Amino acid sequence: MSFKEELTNKVTEIEEIVYKYLPKEEGKQKTVIEAMNYSVKAGGKRLRPMIMLETYRMFEGSSEVIEPFMAAIEMIHTYSLVHDDLPAMDNDEYRRGKKTTHAVYGEAMGILAGDGLLNFAFETAAKSFDIEVNQNVAKAIQILGNKAGIYGMIGGQVVDIESENKAIDLDTLDFIHKLKTAALIECSMLIGATLAGASEDEKNCVEKIANKVGLAFQIQDDILDVTSSLEVLGKPIGSDDKNNKVTYVGIKGIDAAKADVERLTNEAIELFDGLKYKNPFLRELLISLIGREK
Ligand code: IPE
Ligand code: IPE
Ligand code: MG
Ligand code: MG
Ligand code: MG
Repeated sequence: MSFKEELTNKVTEIEEIVYKYLPKEEGKQKTVIEAMNYSVKAGGKRLRPMIMLETYRMFEGSSEVIEPFMAAIEMIHTYSLVHDDLPAMDNDEYRRGKKTTHAVYGEAMGILAGDGLLNFAFETAAKSFDIEVNQNVAKAIQILGNKAGIYGMIGGQVVDIESENKAIDLDTLDFIHKLKTAALIECSMLIGATLAGASEDEKNCVEKIANKVGLAFQIQDDILDVTSSLEVLGKPIGSDDKNNKVTYVGIKGIDAAKADVERLTNEAIELFDGLKYKNPFLRELLISLIGREK
């Protein structure tokens, strides 16, 4: 089977798991649940649950305890996109090839759908205690809260928004990228390793790998905002420019930005190859992100 075929099969496998945990569209509050499910089911690469599952498998994890966390991370990631697209933030009309949640359901419902996904993510993650009760599951919930919150994704979004219309330096941009994007990638791989019972050294190494992959991922996102198209990307290009955001491409130029994506990924792979456990699919997946087109 080619890598592409394997990837397609994995996306199907992951969507089956994630969709299983979505709330039923019923009750008087049905509209917000429809908006939540619309956002999750719109598509996307499913990268975070995928690297979580593959890291778990790499460290020889084999229980269903990983599944609620896979659903939870995709809910949190999706809520971050729903809120990121709001008029008060990046004000974008397309996401995952469809109209953004606020464009379809209105701004108030967009805010509430994001809030709904965030809360439902933790309710879902806690369902893992119905499968296994141990210290690793408790630790995984802490990681989820930490990496998604003020010390992670939200913190990065705060500085991203405060930096609009400002000439920020590369250090500040790195801080933004590390938090707004790398944190959820770190969260995904770290939860996989933690639930599988990896050692402290292994978890530290996995966090470093994910950090580099996450930084490369956001630099590539900044590149695609300039070089891609709405049709390919599924979201509008030129969003950063429209919002007067300093990006990696703006500071370093396109060629240096591309070179940094490759350098960071190679550094991540070097660390990955130093682990005693192997996962050839995950290795190829991380490498494939270098030149990703969406
Ligand atoms: C978009 O993430 C937001 C960033 C952190 C750059 P993805 O590019 O993973 O979005 P989906 O999930 O595939 O839609
Ligand atoms: C946002 O970065 C990362 C999030 C935490 C949502 P961007 O604003 O660049 O993400 P896109 O380009 O809209 O997906
Ligand atoms: Mg943004
Ligand atoms: Mg955005
Ligand atoms: Mg972007």
